[in-house]
Amino acid sequence: MIEKRIFPELKQGVVLAELGGYGDGYYCAEHGAGAALVLLGTYVVDPGARVPYPAKFVFKPEPSTYNSYLGEHIKAARASGAKVGVSVISVELKHTLDFLVAAQEAGADFASLCAHSVMPMFTRCGLGEALCRRANAPALRRWAEALRNALTIPVIFKIGLGDLAETISAVDTLSELGIPIISINVGETTAGSAGLKAVKQLARHCACLIAGGGIKDVAGARRVLEQGAAAVAIGTAAMKDKALCGNIQKQLRAVPPR
Ligand SMILES: Cc1cc2nc3c(=O)[nH]c(=O)nc-3n(C[C@H](O)[C@H](O)[C@H](O)COP(=O)(O)O)c2cc1C
Repeated sequence: MIEKRIFPELKQGVVLAELGGYGDGYYCAEHGAGAALVLLGTYVVDPGARVPYPAKFVFKPEPSTYNSYLGEHIKAARASGAKVGVSVISVELKHTLDFLVAAQEAGADFASLCAHSVMPMFTRCGLGEALCRRANAPALRRWAEALRNALTIPVIFKIGLGDLAETISAVDTLSELGIPIISINVGETTAGSAGLKAVKQLARHCACLIAGGGIKDVAGARRVLEQGAAAVAIGTAAMKDKALCGNIQKQLRAVPPR
């Protein structure tokens, strides 16, 4: 069992999940009000003219194209009262580093790499959700070390579930390299589900785990926390109900952890 790393702001926390095309600073301020952490993005940084992704979430790899955007949207997201993280993905490591360093300089509290995307432009390069597959372990190490070295704010790796053994192996590598926070979408977290069982196994390997997948209410959030996650991520249900994150957060923190 790995030694837990406590981020007091995330403990029993609700995280507004990153939602490409939606999750800008203003969306986060509204839908993440009262949460522990809101995640802006995921933003794509790419020199291509046609990236198959919501255009307002795509930036050219030049800081001048995103610096003022990050300043404005990180500031806007602060109205949620939550900590603010920024999620990014790019094909080039340097573009990811530059974007996250700019986010840090613009005041972000957390930096997140999206190793969750299934977009072919990333997976065919061994990135996105392919980064956590065993065949891409050297790249995972390279990206994790570079992010850890470039940033002083805590780094989150957002990963997908895929094959559980491979995912655990990737999580072990990330822990060993000093990546403090893993965020995962396990798909479903109903009682007795495979996703919920995966949370329990993964929590043993993560210093700090954020887990989500189908959480709609405080009972669902508690179920995930009881498996050992530090915090829960909510995406779809929070799109529909702007007050949901804050309401669940209030209820979770009203009861001390068992
Ligand atoms: C519209 C939409 C956009 C999403 N965009 C992203 C994204 O850009 N990056 C990412 O890592 N996850 C993305 N996700 C996944 C969510 O962050 C979250 O992990 C997933 O929806 C599971 O949580 P939920 O069941 O509460 O929605 C997206 C999900 C939705 C519904």
